[in-house]
Amino acid sequence: MKKSKYAVETNLSNRLKARLNINNKVSVVDFQQWVQDQIEILDGDDILDVGCGTGAQSLRYLDRVGDKGSVYAIDAMKTSINQLIEKAKGRNLITEVGDMMNLSNIIKNRRFNVAACTYAIYYASNPKIVMKTMYDSLKPGGRLMICVPNEPHGLVELVRRYKSIPSVVLESLKISSNLLQPFFDEHFDSYSISFLKNQQSYNKLDQVMNALSASPYYDNSIEENVCADIKSIIDKHGSFKFYKRSYLITSRKKI
Ligand SMILES: C[S@@+](CC[C@H](N)C(=O)[O-])C[C@H]1O[C@@H](n2cnc3c(N)ncnc32)[C@H](O)[C@@H]1O
Repeated sequence: MKKSKYAVETNLSNRLKARLNINNKVSVVDFQQWVQDQIEILDGDDILDVGCGTGAQSLRYLDRVGDKGSVYAIDAMKTSINQLIEKAKGRNLITEVGDMMNLSNIIKNRRFNVAACTYAIYYASNPKIVMKTMYDSLKPGGRLMICVPNEPHGLVELVRRYKSIPSVVLESLKISSNLLQPFFDEHFDSYSISFLKNQQSYNKLDQVMNALSASPYYDNSIEENVCADIKSIIDKHGSFKFYKRSYLITSRKKI
């Protein structure tokens, strides 16, 4: 069997880090800034970040809440939490390694001005339970914010030509209409939905393959075919472009 040039990263924290780096370089819109622009955060706020990963959002929340505020960040991966702690440099960050399904036991009776979850809620075995705990954890006037990917997704569509996509990925691309909007409809009188259609533009085959091998739906068995396809697109058009869509829903609890 031919040796693979693009090894799939098995360490999940490194895989997330690689994905964030690539996204940053090839996206037309700064995704992290877009997320921040959708949420009202005030100086002194206490923020809950569920599925915080290596801190792409938590660190920005820390910047925004200042010395009087705090960020309570939860993730299942200890190595990701460790990276976040290092980057937070002693600011008002509380971390917990744990399953978000256990959120109510983790946060106990802490209350927050903002409860947020970016690109993680679909990993919960029952996202509705996690969202209800986040909702219950809000102080009066507190904001709930959930951000997820949305279909169609250019890279997923590319891989789908050669192999089936894991159901967790397909479900994550439909969760906005299947679960999030019904939940907000049930719990709030009004809510805001924002869509981001972010173009990603790759001009090198290696860049695309590195992005694919850091994704949860790729494996090396399709490398030869995918490489041939991408190479011919880049040779013909100078770049390989697709859209990555995001959906963000947010609302405020009654005072
Ligand atoms: C795509 S990453 C997003 C991380 C971060 N919010 C960001 O945007 O960079 C999803 C995160 O959810 C975490 N995760 C997956 N299942 C989880 C669970 N059951 N409980 C808590 N965290 C979980 C993963 O470890 C990972 O850090």
